Amino acid sequence: MYMHHHLLLILHLISAAIWVGGHLCLAVGILPGALKKKDYTLITQFEKRYEPIGMSSLVVLVVTGMWMALQFGIGPGRWFSFSNPLERVVSVKIILLLATVLFAISAQTRVIPHLATRPKKLYEMAFHIIGVTTIGVAMLILGSFVRYGGI
Ligand code: HEM
Repeated sequence: MYMHHHLLLILHLISAAIWVGGHLCLAVGILPGALKKKDYTLITQFEKRYEPIGMSSLVVLVVTGMWMALQFGIGPGRWFSFSNPLERVVSVKIILLLATVLFAISAQTRVIPHLATRPKKLYEMAFHIIGVTTIGVAMLILGSFVRYGGI
């Protein structure tokens, strides 16, 4: 199916705003207060409301991103060859996407279930939040290089 590249890019940018903006709100707006008050519920309350929209935006980012890459001639067969500037952007983005997924799995299985009983887990949660936010900002900066020819 063909979808106009500009439309894919607009959907990609709206989703990037939601994903990166949401994580920046959490990391900069909510996390410092939660650490200060040692109150993990400030984080879990935000996550409960943000998760459906955040996860949907990540799915849209992956679908539109891979679709735009395909329109640039960079399909799965060319990933991870690091042989041309645009393909390098796509390959690094996919590696960072995997890192995001690993952070999410680790938070859901190793950290969040223990926040109520083990206060020290709050610091591990902080590490996960800052990690995913930093990776999100890096993905956004990487994306912006495409219009300058790649990396
Ligand atoms: C958290 C995830 C992501 C964020 C925050 C993000 C963000 C961005 C941003 C801000 C742009 C800049 C567009 C512009 O300068 O006009 C962009 C472009 C792009 N992204 Fe992503 N992106 C993400 C994930 C992905 C993934 C998983 C892929 C595919 C492998 C991908 C592929 C692309 C491509 C091909 C472009 C260039 C589109 C164009 O300029 O025509 N992105 N991205």
